[in-house]
Amino acid sequence: MKYRFNTSTMSEWKIAVLFLGYVLATILAPTTAAENILNEESARSASEQQKLGAYLTRAGNCMGCHTAQGGQPFAGGRRLSTSFGIFVTPNITPDKEAGIGSWSEEDFWQALHQGKSRDGRLLYPAFPYTEYTKVTRQDANAIFAYLQSLPAVSQINPPSDIRFPYNFRPLLSIWRALYFKQGIYTPDQSKSAEWNRGAYLVQGLGHCNACHTNRNLLGASEEDTLTGGRIMGVNWYAPSLISRLEVSSGDWTIEEITELLATGISKRAVASGPMATIIRQSLQHLSIEDIRAMAVYLKSIAENNNDDTSGTLVPVISENMKEQFAQGRKLYDTYCQECHGVSGEGVAGIYPPLAGNRSVIMASPLNTIRTVLNGGFPATTAANPRPYGMPPFQQILRDGEIALVVSFIRNAWGNSGSWVTALEVDRSKSGER
Ligand code: HEC
Ligand code: HEC
Ligand code: HEC
Repeated sequence: MKYRFNTSTMSEWKIAVLFLGYVLATILAPTTAAENILNEESARSASEQQKLGAYLTRAGNCMGCHTAQGGQPFAGGRRLSTSFGIFVTPNITPDKEAGIGSWSEEDFWQALHQGKSRDGRLLYPAFPYTEYTKVTRQDANAIFAYLQSLPAVSQINPPSDIRFPYNFRPLLSIWRALYFKQGIYTPDQSKSAEWNRGAYLVQGLGHCNACHTNRNLLGASEEDTLTGGRIMGVNWYAPSLISRLEVSSGDWTIEEITELLATGISKRAVASGPMATIIRQSLQHLSIEDIRAMAVYLKSIAENNNDDTSGTLVPVISENMKEQFAQGRKLYDTYCQECHGVSGEGVAGIYPPLAGNRSVIMASPLNTIRTVLNGGFPATTAANPRPYGMPPFQQILRDGEIALVVSFIRNAWGNSGSWVTALEVDRSKSGER
């Protein structure tokens, strides 16, 4: 136990009492009043530390990856398939054998900040330490305190099944030299505290870039962050968060972005697939101030990006296409209109609009095809506890018909996007829902 007092502000009698307390505590240990007070104080600050840690652990969605389906929280065992093989997440409960119970704060910092395990083993970036490196030491300590307060689970997980040559861990040192920039977030002094808080969360614990980026053949994200890309091993496209051709956050109000991130749905859009999962598991639990800070940051990075939206190609519709367009419209009127509206206007907060919806018209039609094939539900959140769903059409429509109706919604009501083929529909079928 450590005592610290400042003699200049503390009257002598207090010191005397403390000293007496200390002497008594030493003599009458372990149950003197003085010791109890001190224990209570450190217990209170420990529990506050754990509370903060629990919150930050939500923000990092650690549980999402470190929990198998139906498994014990944080006991690992979840399988993540990537183009390098299957990663099995480790147990991060405080079990001394199976988990991280024998780790020190320093060991944990080394993992989160540098991507190294306790024994010095280099970790694969399937664990997004490439983003978590931005987290401050204080926040990392709080996460560690929380994890160590959880019940220990003795579950031993099978090893990851990674293909040659990627299974040779030392190769990671080359990868790291090329792609890993270690370092905590440095605030931009020219921006507001709110903007910096948002940037800290988006770039760090939120690990948004883990999905919203293009990965090269070595699984590294491209130089520029949040530029959008296909999520490895999961057949979904995470749009660019900076290009106005793909994301609308530059045009939405801060309130609309906040609403989408906090509840999974706004009158302008709906989050689907892996994004709905992130909102359900992580974002909906964050304070509205933090979500708003993220929205402020997201709006600014999309707003300041000057890529030209006027050059969106307007396809020249041939006679043949006119006929296909008419067929697409017929399918739309039969199967979709009752929810999405005669003019693709949707119903605010229930059915997303399709007219002017960037996730429908962006270059990659993947998510739109997948939604029509598999249907979907927006995130189930406290604010939207019983979301309206969209039925799957895989059993009702043929690939060619899905191609027609998707092409139609990508080009109706002022929308403009590439034409979709039956082959693209077929290729979109693999991968997690
Ligand atoms: C996208 C999935 C994912 C998320 C999110 C994630 N992890 Fe992990 N984590 C992994 C994988 C995969 C590994 C194993 C990497 C390896 O084997 O090299 C790992 C490894 C670790 C390790 C090293 C364990 C060991 O035995 O060496 C720790 C500690 C850890 N994660 C903590 C966390 C914390 C804390 C968070 C939240 C802030 C978190 N993880 C979020 C996937 C994830
Ligand atoms: C597990 C992968 C994953 C992570 C992590 C992730 N996203 Fe997404 N995100 C997606 C996918 C896939 C989509 C496209 C589906 C959709 O539009 O909802 C998406 C869509 C979005 C959209 C556009 C929604 C719309 O309809 O226009 C925004 C905004 C967004 N994400 C913000 C974020 C932020 C902020 C973070 C970090 C806190 C984040 N995402 C983390 C996968 C992810
Ligand atoms: C019963 C009502 C209903 C019907 C019928 C319906 N949808 Fe949907 N649709 C929804 C709901 C609810 C969502 C939000 C689902 C989600 O978040 O995963 C949605 C989402 C979508 C999206 C994703 C929009 C976005 O912002 O990401 C597309 C594209 C779409 N529907 C197209 C269609 C097409 C094409 C048809 C007809 C073949 C159709 N829908 C029929 C209710 C419906």
